[in-house]
Amino acid sequence: MKIRIDKFLSTQAIATRSQAKEMLRAGRVLVNGTPVKAADLKVDPEGDEIRVDGRVYGYQEHLYLMLNKPQGVVSATDDKVHRTVLDLVPPELRRRGLFPAGRLDRDTVGFVLITDDGEFAHNILSPRHHVPKTYEAGLDGPIGENELSVLAQGVVLGDGTKCRPAELTVLQSGERPLIQIVIVEGRYHQIKRMFAAVGRRVLTLKRTKIGGLALDPSLKEGDCIAISPSNLEKIQMKTNSLTEDGED
Ligand code: URA
Repeated sequence: MKIRIDKFLSTQAIATRSQAKEMLRAGRVLVNGTPVKAADLKVDPEGDEIRVDGRVYGYQEHLYLMLNKPQGVVSATDDKVHRTVLDLVPPELRRRGLFPAGRLDRDTVGFVLITDDGEFAHNILSPRHHVPKTYEAGLDGPIGENELSVLAQGVVLGDGTKCRPAELTVLQSGERPLIQIVIVEGRYHQIKRMFAAVGRRVLTLKRTKIGGLALDPSLKEGDCIAISPSNLEKIQMKTNSLTEDGED
């Protein structure tokens, strides 16, 4: 399969399409040992040797994207009424089989991982793997030490479900607190239901991290970038005390 060299560089998370053009112009990209300058040169990523700044880049079978989801967009592959997260994937990064690995509510913003790798998605979503997800929740009123400690130890939801322990950090206190919360589960409306169980309503919710990979602070809401292989490894990193105890 042959694709344009600039498309290869952007879909493999080596550079954005515009950075790719710069790299090519500067002679930093070699195909089979020869510098190439034309962005529309077609290459065969499985047969040609593509070297950027001296390093050889192989072809990644699957694609992994970081989307900064805005409000009002649904975490689905298609929807008759609302825009979906897939509608936000730029044309050069689209390919068959992409889906969001995990859902955020329509009014939640932040990090959504989009991939065509079902096995990887299963690994990060399965409760057995305890991949931590980090959120920032803006609350409707003050929250006390007792409530924080109930949440930290594993709160019981309104329907009787007992949550696993969570890690909480007060980012801002007062009348409209902002709380960072890390959980290793992914139940329906989990964060909202956890705070509801201690008498607070979540007014704003943002996912800032999946595993050890933080949402890129330069990524604007609605934008999407390919995740490099080294950043991909960070997703599966077991990064905190919540991941150390037994199975569900
Ligand atoms: N918990 C929620 O309540 N909503 C989300 O979107 C994600 C986690």
